[in-house]
Amino acid sequence: MILHILKEPDPRLRIKAKAVEKVDDEIRQLMDDMLETMYNNDGMGLAAPQVGVDKRVIVMDLNAGTNEEPLVFCMANPEVLWASTETETTPQGCLSVPEVHASVTRPAKVNIRYLDRNNQQLEIEADGVLATCVQHEIDHLNGVLFIDYLSRLKQEMIQKKLKKLKKFHPI
Ligand code: NI
Repeated sequence: MILHILKEPDPRLRIKAKAVEKVDDEIRQLMDDMLETMYNNDGMGLAAPQVGVDKRVIVMDLNAGTNEEPLVFCMANPEVLWASTETETTPQGCLSVPEVHASVTRPAKVNIRYLDRNNQQLEIEADGVLATCVQHEIDHLNGVLFIDYLSRLKQEMIQKKLKKLKKFHPI
């Protein structure tokens, strides 16, 4: 089922989402719906608060939008165990912040612990696109958007743009 994606400044994007007790059929269904919603909107990642669900669940397909085989990650309760001091600056966008792109600097490598679709606890080392994407999605679980990393001036310009967009495309 395709879900509705909340847009900034919706206050539900600013909550700290609740941990999942167990990845059961209900959570797996949520993960599937989130993937479907993500693909439908040409996204690479999506976090449950973006569809109004107060749960620590994220989905990603690192090969979304390419001709490569899907490279899907579904995670519940993802946690950053370690982050490198080395950083990487990458252009970002977000389905909840339409038409805005900006570069954000983050740790280049992170170790992540999470529950997978089968409720198995896994630990992975992430770098490259996975590191960037997983940190962006974990931020959503803590009510943080990528625009929060930008200068105040840039943030004000973005808020004005979003207001205009909302006027022309009520959402
Ligand atoms: Ni996002």
